[in-house]
Amino acid sequence: MKKFASIFLAGLLVTGLLGACTKKEDTNTAGNKEKKVLVMGTSADYKPYEFVDSKVSDDIIGFDVDIANYIGKKLGYEIQIKDMDFSGLLAAMEAKKVDFVMAGMTPKEERKKNADFTDIYFVAKNIVISKNGAVKSMADLQGKKIGVQTGSIQEGKAKDLQATTQFTIEGRNRISELFEELKVGRVDAILVEDAVASGYLKKMPELKSVTIPEAADEAGSAIALPKGSDKTEQFNAVLKEMKENGEMDKLIKKWFEGNK
Ligand code: ARG
Repeated sequence: MKKFASIFLAGLLVTGLLGACTKKEDTNTAGNKEKKVLVMGTSADYKPYEFVDSKVSDDIIGFDVDIANYIGKKLGYEIQIKDMDFSGLLAAMEAKKVDFVMAGMTPKEERKKNADFTDIYFVAKNIVISKNGAVKSMADLQGKKIGVQTGSIQEGKAKDLQATTQFTIEGRNRISELFEELKVGRVDAILVEDAVASGYLKKMPELKSVTIPEAADEAGSAIALPKGSDKTEQFNAVLKEMKENGEMDKLIKKWFEGNK
């Protein structure tokens, strides 16, 4: 009797293990095994949207990651994250290295040529940061070096502003590099989003931020998907649900408040 019971238990265990192994797979209509995984491309230098808190773990965490996981759960996908430089994200999606891009990315016209975007889920604003408030207006930028993230809308904005004011643009791949360069004086000011700057401003009291009207564009964030993807509408439906059921507000509180 005892033996029978243990064989039975072993059987249960094996079925359980098999179950666990096949859990991530799903048979699609063609009868092929299709893994229900979506790979999210991001640039994990954008606290609180996506970043690594190395004191805690190597995991990429943040506002975008929580939203992606919520969408994945709703639509039945496991989300895997690939970290890369911001400027390479949309190309990586076109090359099918990632399934979607979520990186505090603003759906600007130029990008819409090669990608579809969901509705905007959060809006931030551009600010200018300098050491001890050396830069307070457009006029102060004259002859200076301005740092921006390569490939960002802030870089585009800086280029536009060069039509009226003469300054040099210094592009860097990672936001942390921009703050480093500012700290050591290799750039005079940087143009970044307020929501991302606040964490750095707290740690570097010598840095001061200003809102310069000419540069203070709004930067909305949306999710980028391949052109023509049927998932854009599905993602939008979940984003809408999150806005309606309070989940979005909860995540905004979790990641943006207390960070200010
Ligand atoms: N919102 C800006 C843009 O779309 C900057 C985003 C930068 N994101 C990042 N993860 N570094 O260009």
